[in-house]
Amino acid sequence: KVRAVLLSGGSGTRLWPLSREAYPKQFLALAGEATMLQDTWTRVADIADGPPIVVANEEHRFLAAEQLRMVGVERAAILLEPVGRNTAPAIAAAALQAMAEGGDPLLLVLPSDHVVGDPAAFRQAVTRACAAAQEGALVTFGIRPDAPETGFGYIEAERTDEDGGDGIFGVRRFIEKPDAATAQSYLDDGGFYWNSGMFLFRASRYLAELGRYRPDIVAAVRGAFDAAERDGDFLRLDKDAFAASPSDSIDYAVMERTERAMVLPVDIDWNDVGSWSALWDVSDQDDNGNAGHGDVIAVDSRNSFVWSRRLVALVGVDDLVVVETADAVLVAHKDRVQQVKEVVAGLKAAD
Ligand code: GDD
Ligand code: MG
Repeated sequence: KVRAVLLSGGSGTRLWPLSREAYPKQFLALAGEATMLQDTWTRVADIADGPPIVVANEEHRFLAAEQLRMVGVERAAILLEPVGRNTAPAIAAAALQAMAEGGDPLLLVLPSDHVVGDPAAFRQAVTRACAAAQEGALVTFGIRPDAPETGFGYIEAERTDEDGGDGIFGVRRFIEKPDAATAQSYLDDGGFYWNSGMFLFRASRYLAELGRYRPDIVAAVRGAFDAAERDGDFLRLDKDAFAASPSDSIDYAVMERTERAMVLPVDIDWNDVGSWSALWDVSDQDDNGNAGHGDVIAVDSRNSFVWSRRLVALVGVDDLVVVETADAVLVAHKDRVQQVKEVVAGLKAAD
């Protein structure tokens, strides 16, 4: 059994205008009936020891608590960040919470905005990885890449047939978000996996590794945790102490540097749903490749994604993304949806 840590602090700007600062994508039902946060918990509830530790922005505390209550979670530990400092501090706070509750559990760290098509295979993989994590490994779950994506971390596995019988390999290198040419060379090489962003390790091992490379982060988060205020299931990390932490991701702060990384290649139909085209990918498509949500009439139009409350008609267009909300409409080419974040940046600058 493992202790689940649900990371729920991202803002998902590439899914604008549906995903907003006040209501980011992990709290939306984008890929089914349940929200992505709810799916994240349901996927692992059977292998989890007790309720999850949730790390979220203070602003989203009621969304997180209410959505988890709806899927049967009672007495979750919900750690509230006064400001986002990225995942390295967020996971450190979760590790301190787990150890404060007693013991040194295996933490299963989960982004709350992914789709896993084969959750049973994922649960099996986690179970298989427990022994290595107990012994001190930082276990990553590797995804076989099929495109030179630059938004992912890449993991080079040791080139050996020896996997100790558990399917887990040593890690030669971990490279967070390489440029396009480098990503292409990794793809051509064939010995690399995408980092799925999910991790398994002992709480104390993570704190020790983070302490080795970023003692400043551990010190700041420890201060914020020790001075935290309890409020029911919520634990409010101390504002000044937490804000004083440098902002960094686990990938840059720890995974690129540690010598204890291991990788378990998995085949779990994983998708990070980072953009509208990724959402189109995982959605049920009709015979013309169109998908989405709401009333759509498509005349001679293919491979498009429409999300709307009003009737939308497409005539003679292919590969479009159309998203309509109460106060904004997005029309984008499906190959350019990464640039939606430029819209959000522009709106912020104009604020
Ligand atoms: N609590 C909290 N606080 N959560 C956060 C914060 C924060 O400050 N920042 C991000 N998160 C959450 C996000 O909501 C998401 O669920 C998860 O942590 C990962 O953050 P992302 O911002 O989505 O990371 P990424 O997609 O750029 O990269 C990571 O995921 C890729 C796979 O999707 C890395 O781990 C890559 O190596 C990996 O390939
Ligand atoms: Mg992500």
